[in-house]
Amino acid sequence: MTSSRIIHRSLRAPPPPMASGGEGAWLVTADRRRVLDASGGAAVSCLGHGHPRVVEAIRRQAAALAYAHTGFFTSAPPEELAEALVGHEPGGLAYAFFVAGGSEAMEAALKLARQSFLEIDQPQRCRFIARRQSYHGNTLGALGFGRQRGAAGAVCAAAGGCVQPRHPGLCLSRAARRRD
Ligand SMILES: Cc1ncc(COP(=O)(O)O)c(C=O)c1O
Repeated sequence: MTSSRIIHRSLRAPPPPMASGGEGAWLVTADRRRVLDASGGAAVSCLGHGHPRVVEAIRRQAAALAYAHTGFFTSAPPEELAEALVGHEPGGLAYAFFVAGGSEAMEAALKLARQSFLEIDQPQRCRFIARRQSYHGNTLGALGFGRQRGAAGAVCAAAGGCVQPRHPGLCLSRAARRRD
């Protein structure tokens, strides 16, 4: 494939190879090469390709119920998953909030943290601590939170307001932040 209508990582370079199938930990390209997906995509996908139990679970759920808006309904699969994840309240975590991916999870965490301080009348607590150049997702808030260098940093400056420690676990003082 020499051109594409998709915005890939670069509009100048040719599109990446076409993945046309998968089998366990292997990706299969359109020209029949087998590529070991050793890191599970971006290190976050762990179900492999075409496992019969996963395929059957997806088929069964799609046949039963494709979608029910969470503003109006709950359904058995997320209720069961939440019970399995936090039913035993590990470390005091008692409730789950399901989203569609990592970026949305970060946005939800930022919003929940902010909302909880607003609700206990501490609106001044609005700074988030993140490691410089860390990656937390591709949404405006998640990108701004990690303060990327270059173009991404410029695009996301609007979402700033974060404290950036130089070392993990180290919270910067105001003076250190001014020097930054
Ligand atoms: C630490 C971390 N946070 C967030 C994300 C964003 O996840 P997603 O691509 O599902 O939005 C990633 C993705 O690689 C990640 O590694």
